[in-house]
Amino acid sequence: MTSTEPTEHCNVKAVIPAAGHGSRMQSDIPKQFLTVGGKTLLQYSIEAVCADPRVTEVIVAVSDPDSSDLPNASEFHVAQPVTYISGGDTRAESVCRGVEYAVAQGATHTLVHDAARPCLPKEALVRVIDSGTASQHGAILAIPVRDSLKRAMTSSGMAAHIEESVDREHLWQAQTPQVFQAQALLNGIKHMGAHNPQLTDEASAMQWLGYQPVLVEGAFKNVKVTHPEDFECVASWLLASTTTE
Ligand code: CTP
Ligand code: MG
Repeated sequence: MTSTEPTEHCNVKAVIPAAGHGSRMQSDIPKQFLTVGGKTLLQYSIEAVCADPRVTEVIVAVSDPDSSDLPNASEFHVAQPVTYISGGDTRAESVCRGVEYAVAQGATHTLVHDAARPCLPKEALVRVIDSGTASQHGAILAIPVRDSLKRAMTSSGMAAHIEESVDREHLWQAQTPQVFQAQALLNGIKHMGAHNPQLTDEASAMQWLGYQPVLVEGAFKNVKVTHPEDFECVASWLLASTTTE
């Protein structure tokens, strides 16, 4: 069996949190609805997770699923059905609602991927689904920290004095997708609480239950659009990949 054939007894549903307001982007419309080459970042992210046929459905958590401003879910050019649901007021709450919906639809596993990460390479997607469905601990994409790390008493503004240099060995930057047994992830988010500030990703919720998710090699280009300069990078990569296809 090749790694992209459906695994027996596995039903992987993707959950895409897309209900944020993108305050750090300071743009008039939420970043997931910014367009590059005529497509929204959300559409690129949906197409990216659908590149592996083991994903059987995509569930997108948005602020208002009935809004006429949303692209019609049938217009996404993917083989899998796309369903909008109502998100929450934290990312974890949006994910929780998506995972609840996925479990109700028979998902054995959920793959959570940020709408704001449109440059996910297919090879990384396949790797994280392979590992996440093979281990009961689940798996996440991550990249090793490249830069020197400093701790200061502020996380914004400049001219703060360095308190400490932090050894970057063994430190990783977590990305999405993150793939887990669906019911376990739901339990983890509910136990930890979807408004718990420590719940910054799905791996944290699984660790809360005692699982040790596996780190799988991610990709530098799988950056999350957070600030305007991220959007500039992502837009140039997306346009370059469209012209070389
Ligand atoms: N998200 C969500 N529901 C929320 C908050 C965030 O579905 N209540 C989604 C965002 O739409 C995004 C992903 O979670 O796709 C990652 O979150 P983040 O980068 O923090 O996006 P925003 O919260 O929109 O941005 P900011 O924190 O700058 O306001
Ligand atoms: Mg946010």
